Amino acid sequence: MINYETLMQKCFELAKNGQGSVSPNPLVGCVVLDKNDNIISTGYHHKYGENHAERDALLKLKNGEEEGGTLIVNLEPCSHFGKTPPCVDLIIERKIKKVVIAMQDVNPIVAGNGIKKLKENNIEVIENVLNEQAKDLNEIFIKNMTKKEIFVALKTATTLDGKIATKTGSSKWITSENARERGHKLRNIYDAVLTSSSTVLADNPKFDCKTKILIDRSLKCDFSLDYFKTGKIYIATTVKDLPESPDNIEFIEYTDLKTLFKQLFEKGIMSVFAEAGGTINGLLIKENLVDKIYQFIAPKITGDNTAKSAFDGNNITDINESKNFKIQSVEQIEPDILITLKAVNNG
Ligand SMILES: NC(=O)c1ccc[n+]([C@@H]2O[C@H](COP(=O)([O-])OP(=O)(O)OC[C@H]3O[C@@H](n4cnc5c(N)ncnc54)[C@H](OP(=O)(O)O)[C@@H]3O)[C@@H](O)[C@H]2O)c1
Repeated sequence: MINYETLMQKCFELAKNGQGSVSPNPLVGCVVLDKNDNIISTGYHHKYGENHAERDALLKLKNGEEEGGTLIVNLEPCSHFGKTPPCVDLIIERKIKKVVIAMQDVNPIVAGNGIKKLKENNIEVIENVLNEQAKDLNEIFIKNMTKKEIFVALKTATTLDGKIATKTGSSKWITSENARERGHKLRNIYDAVLTSSSTVLADNPKFDCKTKILIDRSLKCDFSLDYFKTGKIYIATTVKDLPESPDNIEFIEYTDLKTLFKQLFEKGIMSVFAEAGGTINGLLIKENLVDKIYQFIAPKITGDNTAKSAFDGNNITDINESKNFKIQSVEQIEPDILITLKAVNNG
Protein backbone atom coordinates (compact mmCIF):
# COMPACT_ATOMS: atom_id res chain seq x y z
CA MET A 1 0.00 0.00 0.00
CA ILE A 2 1.35 3.37 -1.00
CA ASN A 3 1.92 5.71 1.97
CA TYR A 4 0.80 9.20 0.95
CA GLU A 5 1.76 10.65 4.36
CA THR A 6 5.42 9.72 3.86
CA LEU A 7 5.33 11.21 0.36
CA MET A 8 3.62 14.37 1.65
CA GLN A 9 6.35 14.68 4.28
CA LYS A 10 8.81 14.58 1.38
CA CYS A 11 6.85 17.42 -0.28
CA PHE A 12 7.23 19.49 2.92
CA GLU A 13 10.99 18.91 2.95
CA LEU A 14 11.25 19.88 -0.74
CA ALA A 15 9.08 22.96 -0.14
CA LYS A 16 11.41 24.18 2.63
CA ASN A 17 14.17 24.64 0.04
CA GLY A 18 12.23 27.73 -1.05
CA GLN A 19 12.32 29.35 2.40
CA GLY A 20 13.59 32.91 2.15
CA SER A 21 13.03 33.10 -1.63
CA VAL A 22 9.34 32.57 -2.40
CA SER A 23 7.65 35.32 -0.37
CA PRO A 24 4.87 36.43 -0.84
CA ASN A 25 4.12 33.03 -2.37
CA PRO A 26 3.62 29.81 -0.37
CA LEU A 27 6.18 27.05 0.15
CA VAL A 28 5.30 24.13 -2.12
CA GLY A 29 6.93 20.79 -2.88
CA CYS A 30 5.80 18.07 -5.27
CA VAL A 31 6.45 14.36 -5.92
CA VAL A 32 5.38 12.56 -9.11
CA LEU A 33 4.80 8.79 -9.26
CA ASP A 34 4.42 6.69 -12.42
CA LYS A 35 1.44 4.35 -12.86
CA ASN A 36 3.27 1.70 -10.81
CA ASP A 37 3.77 4.14 -7.92
CA ASN A 38 7.52 4.60 -8.42
CA ILE A 39 8.88 8.10 -7.76
CA ILE A 40 9.89 9.51 -11.14
CA SER A 41 10.29 13.21 -10.36
CA THR A 42 10.31 15.82 -7.60
CA GLY A 43 10.15 19.58 -7.63
CA TYR A 44 9.54 22.68 -5.54
CA HIS A 45 8.78 26.37 -5.88
CA HIS A 46 12.29 27.82 -5.91
CA LYS A 47 11.70 31.55 -6.10
CA TYR A 48 8.92 34.12 -6.38
CA GLY A 49 7.98 34.52 -10.06
CA GLU A 50 9.49 31.17 -11.05
CA ASN A 51 7.73 27.85 -11.77
CA HIS A 52 5.39 26.38 -9.21
CA ALA A 53 6.35 23.02 -7.68
CA GLU A 54 4.08 20.93 -9.93
CA ARG A 55 5.47 22.57 -13.09
CA ASP A 56 9.05 22.22 -11.75
CA ALA A 57 8.51 18.46 -11.24
CA LEU A 58 6.53 17.75 -14.44
CA LEU A 59 8.81 19.67 -16.79
CA LYS A 60 11.70 17.38 -15.80
CA LEU A 61 9.78 14.50 -17.43
CA LYS A 62 10.10 14.33 -21.20
CA ASN A 63 8.95 10.84 -22.25
CA GLY A 64 5.39 10.64 -20.98
CA GLU A 65 6.30 8.27 -18.14
CA GLU A 66 3.95 10.26 -15.86
CA GLU A 67 0.88 9.20 -17.89
CA GLY A 68 -1.60 7.45 -15.57
CA GLY A 69 0.52 8.40 -12.57
CA THR A 70 0.00 10.29 -9.32
CA LEU A 71 1.06 13.79 -8.33
CA ILE A 72 1.48 14.61 -4.64
CA VAL A 73 1.65 18.26 -3.63
CA ASN A 74 1.19 20.09 -0.32
CA LEU A 75 -1.04 22.86 -1.73
CA GLU A 76 -3.98 22.73 -4.13
CA PRO A 77 -2.66 23.28 -7.68
CA CYS A 78 -3.47 26.72 -9.10
CA SER A 79 -6.12 27.24 -11.74
CA HIS A 80 -5.37 30.86 -12.70
CA PHE A 81 -2.82 32.72 -14.79
CA GLY A 82 -0.42 34.47 -12.41
CA LYS A 83 3.28 34.89 -13.06
CA THR A 84 3.08 31.39 -14.61
CA PRO A 85 0.25 29.47 -16.41
CA PRO A 86 -2.18 27.29 -14.37
CA CYS A 87 -0.62 24.11 -12.97
CA VAL A 88 -3.96 22.31 -13.22
CA ASP A 89 -3.83 22.60 -17.04
CA LEU A 90 -0.37 21.04 -17.15
CA ILE A 91 -1.49 18.19 -14.86
CA ILE A 92 -4.43 17.48 -17.19
CA GLU A 93 -2.25 17.76 -20.30
CA ARG A 94 0.29 15.31 -18.83
CA LYS A 95 -2.52 12.76 -18.20
CA ILE A 96 -1.99 12.40 -14.46
CA LYS A 97 -4.75 10.19 -13.01
CA LYS A 98 -4.59 11.02 -9.31
CA VAL A 99 -3.65 14.14 -7.31
CA VAL A 100 -2.97 14.01 -3.57
CA ILE A 101 -3.19 17.34 -1.72
CA ALA A 102 -2.49 18.41 1.88
CA MET A 103 -4.56 21.61 1.91
CA GLN A 104 -6.78 23.79 -0.23
CA ASP A 105 -5.30 27.07 -1.33
CA VAL A 106 -6.50 29.99 0.82
CA ASN A 107 -5.87 32.41 -2.04
CA PRO A 108 -9.45 33.40 -3.02
CA ILE A 109 -8.62 33.18 -6.74
CA VAL A 110 -7.71 29.49 -6.35
CA ALA A 111 -9.64 28.23 -3.25
CA GLY A 112 -11.32 25.03 -4.41
CA ASN A 113 -11.24 25.93 -8.12
CA GLY A 114 -8.11 23.92 -8.81
CA ILE A 115 -9.62 20.81 -7.20
CA LYS A 116 -12.91 21.36 -9.06
CA LYS A 117 -11.19 21.54 -12.43
CA LEU A 118 -9.16 18.38 -11.72
CA LYS A 119 -12.34 16.46 -10.81
CA GLU A 120 -14.16 17.77 -13.89
CA ASN A 121 -11.35 16.21 -15.90
CA ASN A 122 -11.81 12.81 -14.24
CA ILE A 123 -8.74 13.09 -12.08
CA GLU A 124 -9.13 11.48 -8.66
CA VAL A 125 -8.33 13.95 -5.87
CA ILE A 126 -7.34 12.87 -2.35
CA GLU A 127 -7.47 15.83 0.04
CA ASN A 128 -6.26 16.78 3.55
CA VAL A 129 -3.25 14.44 3.81
CA LEU A 130 -1.20 15.83 6.76
CA ASN A 131 -3.45 18.91 6.66
CA GLU A 132 -2.38 20.42 10.02
CA GLN A 133 1.34 20.11 9.25
CA ALA A 134 0.71 21.69 5.84
CA LYS A 135 -0.97 24.66 7.51
CA ASP A 136 1.96 25.05 9.91
CA LEU A 137 4.39 24.98 6.98
CA ASN A 138 2.55 27.82 5.25
CA GLU A 139 1.54 29.80 8.35
CA ILE A 140 3.01 33.03 6.94
CA PHE A 141 1.14 32.74 3.62
CA ILE A 142 -2.10 31.77 5.38
CA LYS A 143 -2.00 34.78 7.72
CA ASN A 144 -1.08 37.14 4.86
CA MET A 145 -3.93 35.86 2.69
CA THR A 146 -6.71 35.42 5.23
CA LYS A 147 -6.05 38.35 7.58
CA LYS A 148 -4.15 40.65 5.23
CA GLU A 149 -1.60 41.06 8.02
CA ILE A 150 2.12 40.64 8.48
CA PHE A 151 3.35 37.46 10.27
CA VAL A 152 5.47 38.14 13.36
CA ALA A 153 8.05 35.71 14.74
CA LEU A 154 10.12 36.55 17.80
CA LYS A 155 13.48 35.05 18.65
CA THR A 156 15.12 35.25 22.01
CA ALA A 157 18.10 33.59 23.66
CA THR A 158 17.79 33.19 27.40
CA THR A 159 19.25 31.58 30.45
CA LEU A 160 17.28 28.95 32.38
CA ASP A 161 15.92 31.78 34.53
CA GLY A 162 14.62 33.65 31.47
CA LYS A 163 17.31 36.35 31.35
CA ILE A 164 18.72 37.87 28.16
CA ALA A 165 21.51 39.93 29.74
CA THR A 166 22.91 40.64 33.18
CA LYS A 167 22.00 43.90 34.88
CA THR A 168 25.23 45.42 33.53
CA GLY A 169 24.10 44.52 29.97
CA SER A 170 26.58 41.65 29.52
CA SER A 171 24.89 39.31 27.05
CA LYS A 172 27.50 37.96 24.59
CA TRP A 173 27.11 35.02 24.30
CA ILE A 174 24.33 33.42 26.27
CA THR A 175 23.89 30.54 23.86
CA SER A 176 26.43 28.47 21.94
CA GLU A 177 27.73 28.95 18.40
CA ASN A 178 25.49 26.06 17.25
CA ALA A 179 22.42 27.84 18.56
CA ARG A 180 23.47 31.14 17.01
CA GLU A 181 24.01 29.46 13.64
CA ARG A 182 20.51 28.01 13.87
CA GLY A 183 19.21 31.47 14.74
CA HIS A 184 20.78 32.87 11.54
CA LYS A 185 19.06 30.18 9.48
CA LEU A 186 15.70 30.99 11.07
CA ARG A 187 16.22 34.68 10.31
CA ASN A 188 16.44 33.88 6.59
CA ILE A 189 12.91 32.44 6.58
CA TYR A 190 11.44 35.89 7.18
CA ASP A 191 11.29 38.98 4.97
CA ALA A 192 12.81 41.36 7.53
CA VAL A 193 14.48 41.55 10.94
CA LEU A 194 13.13 43.96 13.51
CA THR A 195 15.16 45.39 16.35
CA SER A 196 15.46 48.46 18.58
CA SER A 197 17.83 51.35 19.12
CA SER A 198 18.80 49.88 22.53
CA THR A 199 19.82 46.56 21.02
CA VAL A 200 21.78 48.20 18.18
CA LEU A 201 23.57 50.48 20.64
CA ALA A 202 24.30 47.60 23.05
CA ASP A 203 25.37 44.96 20.52
CA ASN A 204 25.96 46.72 17.16
CA PRO A 205 24.64 43.61 15.37
CA LYS A 206 25.24 43.40 11.61
CA PHE A 207 22.17 41.29 10.84
CA ASP A 208 23.15 39.98 7.42
CA CYS A 209 19.75 40.06 5.77
CA LYS A 210 17.97 41.85 2.95
CA THR A 211 15.66 44.07 4.96
CA LYS A 212 15.93 45.48 8.47
CA ILE A 213 13.49 47.44 10.60
CA LEU A 214 14.80 49.59 13.41
CA ILE A 215 12.63 51.17 16.07
CA ASP A 216 14.57 54.29 17.00
CA ARG A 217 11.97 56.80 18.03
CA SER A 218 14.37 59.66 18.78
CA LEU A 219 17.10 58.65 16.26
CA LYS A 220 19.77 57.77 18.83
CA CYS A 221 21.77 55.48 16.54
CA ASP A 222 24.70 56.77 14.52
CA PHE A 223 24.53 55.73 10.85
CA SER A 224 28.24 54.85 10.91
CA LEU A 225 27.49 51.71 13.01
CA ASP A 226 27.98 48.31 11.27
CA TYR A 227 24.24 47.71 11.48
CA PHE A 228 23.60 50.39 8.83
CA LYS A 229 26.19 49.11 6.35
CA THR A 230 24.11 46.39 4.67
CA GLY A 231 20.54 45.81 3.47
CA LYS A 232 17.53 48.02 3.09
CA ILE A 233 16.71 49.67 6.42
CA TYR A 234 13.40 51.13 7.53
CA ILE A 235 13.75 53.33 10.62
CA ALA A 236 10.56 53.87 12.60
CA THR A 237 10.83 57.23 14.30
CA THR A 238 8.79 60.02 15.84
CA VAL A 239 11.35 62.66 14.72
CA LYS A 240 9.75 65.06 12.25
CA ASP A 241 12.84 66.96 11.11
CA LEU A 242 14.66 64.05 9.43
CA PRO A 243 18.45 64.07 8.96
CA GLU A 244 20.45 63.32 5.79
CA SER A 245 20.88 59.56 5.56
CA PRO A 246 22.52 56.90 3.35
CA ASP A 247 20.46 55.68 0.35
CA ASN A 248 19.61 52.32 1.95
CA ILE A 249 17.66 54.04 4.75
CA GLU A 250 13.99 54.96 4.61
CA PHE A 251 12.13 56.58 7.50
CA ILE A 252 8.66 55.55 8.65
CA GLU A 253 6.62 57.72 11.00
CA TYR A 254 6.22 55.75 14.24
CA THR A 255 3.03 55.79 16.26
CA ASP A 256 2.71 52.25 17.67
CA LEU A 257 3.77 48.71 16.81
CA LYS A 258 0.43 47.66 15.32
CA THR A 259 0.43 50.62 12.94
CA LEU A 260 4.08 49.98 12.09
CA PHE A 261 3.23 46.41 11.07
CA LYS A 262 0.37 47.67 8.89
CA GLN A 263 2.72 50.14 7.20
CA LEU A 264 5.31 47.41 6.59
CA PHE A 265 2.71 45.02 5.15
CA GLU A 266 1.62 47.77 2.76
CA LYS A 267 5.25 48.02 1.64
CA GLY A 268 5.16 44.30 0.74
CA ILE A 269 6.92 42.95 3.85
CA MET A 270 5.00 39.75 4.59
CA SER A 271 6.85 38.61 7.72
CA VAL A 272 9.20 39.90 10.39
CA PHE A 273 11.64 38.24 12.74
CA ALA A 274 11.96 40.29 15.92
CA GLU A 275 15.36 40.15 17.59
CA ALA A 276 15.19 42.71 20.34
CA GLY A 277 15.43 43.00 24.11
CA GLY A 278 12.85 42.53 26.83
CA THR A 279 11.10 45.90 26.39
CA ILE A 280 10.16 45.43 22.74
CA ASN A 281 9.51 41.69 23.24
CA GLY A 282 7.20 42.51 26.18
CA LEU A 283 5.31 45.13 24.16
CA LEU A 284 4.86 42.72 21.25
CA ILE A 285 3.48 40.08 23.61
CA LYS A 286 1.25 42.52 25.50
CA GLU A 287 -0.35 43.70 22.27
CA ASN A 288 -0.86 40.12 20.99
CA LEU A 289 1.22 40.80 17.91
CA VAL A 290 3.39 37.68 18.08
CA ASP A 291 2.45 34.62 16.02
CA LYS A 292 5.47 32.49 16.84
CA ILE A 293 8.31 32.39 19.36
CA TYR A 294 11.70 30.76 18.97
CA GLN A 295 13.28 30.60 22.40
CA PHE A 296 16.81 29.29 22.69
CA ILE A 297 17.59 28.32 26.27
CA ALA A 298 21.14 27.92 27.58
CA PRO A 299 21.74 25.73 30.65
CA LYS A 300 22.88 28.74 32.69
CA ILE A 301 21.39 30.59 35.64
CA THR A 302 22.13 34.23 36.47
CA GLY A 303 20.34 34.03 39.80
CA ASP A 304 19.78 37.78 39.68
CA ASN A 305 16.22 39.07 39.59
CA THR A 306 17.47 42.48 38.44
CA ALA A 307 19.06 40.97 35.31
CA LYS A 308 17.20 41.74 32.02
CA SER A 309 14.23 39.48 31.33
CA ALA A 310 13.18 38.24 27.89
CA PHE A 311 9.64 39.58 28.18
CA ASP A 312 9.19 42.72 30.28
CA GLY A 313 6.35 44.89 31.37
CA ASN A 314 3.38 42.57 31.47
CA ASN A 315 3.34 42.51 35.31
CA ILE A 316 0.29 40.26 35.66
CA THR A 317 -0.82 39.24 39.15
CA ASP A 318 -3.21 36.43 38.22
CA ILE A 319 -1.56 33.46 36.49
CA ASN A 320 -4.76 32.94 34.50
CA GLU A 321 -4.06 36.20 32.73
CA SER A 322 -0.79 34.86 31.27
CA LYS A 323 -0.34 34.97 27.52
CA ASN A 324 -0.61 31.43 26.19
CA PHE A 325 1.46 29.62 23.62
CA LYS A 326 1.43 26.10 22.25
CA ILE A 327 4.74 24.26 22.04
CA GLN A 328 5.29 23.11 18.46
CA SER A 329 8.68 21.51 18.95
CA VAL A 330 11.59 21.15 21.35
CA GLU A 331 15.00 20.51 19.84
CA GLN A 332 18.31 19.88 21.50
CA ILE A 333 21.02 22.01 19.91
CA GLU A 334 23.95 21.00 22.08
CA PRO A 335 24.50 22.34 24.68
CA ASP A 336 21.30 24.43 24.41
CA ILE A 337 17.66 23.77 23.49
CA LEU A 338 15.29 25.52 21.09
CA ILE A 339 11.60 25.69 21.93
CA THR A 340 9.32 26.73 19.07
CA LEU A 341 5.88 27.96 20.07
CA LYS A 342 2.82 29.38 18.39
CA ALA A 343 0.32 31.82 19.84
CA VAL A 344 -3.11 30.62 20.97
CA ASN A 345 -6.20 32.63 21.88
CA ASN A 346 -4.53 35.72 23.23
CA GLY A 347 -7.28 38.01 21.96
N1 LIG B 1 19.51 37.46 24.34
C1 LIG B 1 18.80 37.96 23.36
O1 LIG B 1 18.10 37.24 22.64
C2 LIG B 1 18.88 39.43 23.09
C3 LIG B 1 18.36 39.94 21.89
C4 LIG B 1 18.40 41.30 21.69
C5 LIG B 1 18.90 42.12 22.70
N2 LIG B 1 19.40 41.59 23.82
C6 LIG B 1 19.92 42.43 24.89
O2 LIG B 1 18.81 43.16 25.39
C7 LIG B 1 19.27 44.37 25.93
C8 LIG B 1 18.34 45.45 25.45
O3 LIG B 1 17.09 45.21 26.03
P1 LIG B 1 16.08 46.41 26.27
O4 LIG B 1 14.87 45.88 26.92
O5 LIG B 1 16.83 47.51 26.87
O6 LIG B 1 15.85 46.84 24.76
P2 LIG B 1 14.82 46.51 23.61
O7 LIG B 1 13.64 45.78 24.06
O8 LIG B 1 15.60 45.93 22.45
O9 LIG B 1 14.40 47.98 23.19
C9 LIG B 1 14.08 48.99 24.13
C10 LIG B 1 13.92 50.28 23.36
O10 LIG B 1 12.66 50.25 22.73
C11 LIG B 1 12.16 51.55 22.66
N3 LIG B 1 10.87 51.61 23.33
C12 LIG B 1 10.58 51.67 24.64
N4 LIG B 1 9.25 51.75 24.82
C13 LIG B 1 8.70 51.73 23.60
C14 LIG B 1 7.39 51.82 23.11
N5 LIG B 1 6.34 51.93 23.95
N6 LIG B 1 7.20 51.77 21.79
C15 LIG B 1 8.24 51.63 20.97
N7 LIG B 1 9.52 51.59 21.38
C16 LIG B 1 9.72 51.62 22.68
C17 LIG B 1 13.12 52.47 23.36
O11 LIG B 1 14.00 53.02 22.38
P3 LIG B 1 13.72 54.45 21.68
O12 LIG B 1 13.18 55.35 22.72
O13 LIG B 1 15.05 54.83 21.16
O14 LIG B 1 12.75 54.21 20.58
C18 LIG B 1 13.91 51.49 24.23
O15 LIG B 1 15.19 51.94 24.48
C19 LIG B 1 20.69 44.54 25.44
O16 LIG B 1 21.55 44.33 26.55
C20 LIG B 1 20.88 43.46 24.44
O17 LIG B 1 22.18 42.94 24.45
C21 LIG B 1 19.39 40.27 24.05
